[in-house]
Amino acid sequence: MAETITITDNRTGESIEVPLVDGTVDAKAWRGLLPGIWFDDPSFSATSGADSAITFLDGDAGLLRYRGYPIEQLAGSTSFLEVAHLLVRGELPNGPQLKAWKSEISEAAPIHENFHKRILEGFRDDAHAMGVLVSSIAAMSTFWPDSKNIEDPDQRRYEIVRLIAKMPTVAASAYRRSEGLPYVLPDPDLDYTSNFLAMMFKTGDAPYVVDPILRDAMDMLFVLHADHEQNCSTTTARVVGSAHADPYVTVSAAASALYGPRHGGANEAVLRMLTQIGKYENVDAFMDGVKAGDQKLMGFGHRVYKNYDPRARIVKDTAHRVFDVTGTNPLLDIALKLEEVALADPYFIDRKLYPNVDFYSGLIYQSMGFPVEMFTVLFTIGRTPGWLAHWDEMLTQNSRIARPRQRYTGPADRDVPTIDER
Ligand code: CMC
Repeated sequence: MAETITITDNRTGESIEVPLVDGTVDAKAWRGLLPGIWFDDPSFSATSGADSAITFLDGDAGLLRYRGYPIEQLAGSTSFLEVAHLLVRGELPNGPQLKAWKSEISEAAPIHENFHKRILEGFRDDAHAMGVLVSSIAAMSTFWPDSKNIEDPDQRRYEIVRLIAKMPTVAASAYRRSEGLPYVLPDPDLDYTSNFLAMMFKTGDAPYVVDPILRDAMDMLFVLHADHEQNCSTTTARVVGSAHADPYVTVSAAASALYGPRHGGANEAVLRMLTQIGKYENVDAFMDGVKAGDQKLMGFGHRVYKNYDPRARIVKDTAHRVFDVTGTNPLLDIALKLEEVALADPYFIDRKLYPNVDFYSGLIYQSMGFPVEMFTVLFTIGRTPGWLAHWDEMLTQNSRIARPRQRYTGPADRDVPTIDER
């Protein structure tokens, strides 16, 4: 059977046969036959926006792989820094490569003192941590103007290290500033995630003692969030990057997209929703409201997963391990009941709505002591290597600037009235 699609213009009877390659048809062939006729697809539901060798996702089967490796294997056996290397450099590091990678990252982790004094201190005390982070990442563009040299692969490599390295430092500093606590400098003797936890929670002069179970859980959550192919924030990174903007404003734009409650901001929204439901007995009434369209069940549903999100399954298992250390989260019972009700209800079954990665992650973060405003910041730290891998890949592909078309729905041609005529 021919792997082709035939498109016929019924106005003229003209046809073209277009090859079907890896489940896609080349839109240029369509344009050849039908110039000036556009696909109407505002949410890109039916559009492939990139050729990418980074992440494979099959939403119907519930599969997710980074560079071919199943997420279940990576989450159980590799650290976040190994996965970051896999994403941005193409392969898992061997022993010497990992040693060199760790030292590159830890050397780049500190931030300039002026950054603390002039940028972070400029925000209101009650500024949302994600707003602070998004603005701070953009501000980094002014500290490293060489980063604009995006066509130099060595410069890109350097900026990628710098962004992955500094993200936890800026994130922890944003938190300490909001709490009125002194900043904690990165410690080169600690691994990436222990260092982040120490910069967040260290008090006094005594060394911060990291609980290995909590550290491993946090590190695994970073792994689970590290990439997710052409999601809203990654697409943002590719679109902004296609204009040849520098990596700091590109990643800041991606983080801004992530901030939204339909995307990475859902972890915060889930916690607020669980708190608002308050009691196990209120679940049924809340679910009636969801089905009536009064509100969404946050942490449920996904554009591409029409099956259980494989990340959500791992997060749920991790939650139990964390609660063994921290004590159970009282909101867990409400979350479990919501899931149980949803998975048995025709509203959710018919629409193929399952828990996504954000449904249980907030419960873990809260039990570990993170305030809700930090939840999406944690997602940002995890997703940074993914954004950068896509940005770098897009630039090596020599992609043209992203520039979709539109269906114009405004007024027809008309004359500008004088002020008295308006
Ligand atoms: N609660 C209730 N109904 C829902 C939900 C939900 N969470 N999600 C989708 N639906 C309904 C939706 O109303 C629609 O119903 P109908 O056909 O009657 O109009 C149907 O399911 C299909 O939904 P959609 O709006 O076409 O789905 P989408 O692909 O445009 O949106 C989504 C995907 C993730 C934005 C959406 O499911 C949602 O808002 N979920 C809650 C927010 C959330 O948890 N986001 C985190 C996503 S995972 C982390 C990440 O990678 O960003």
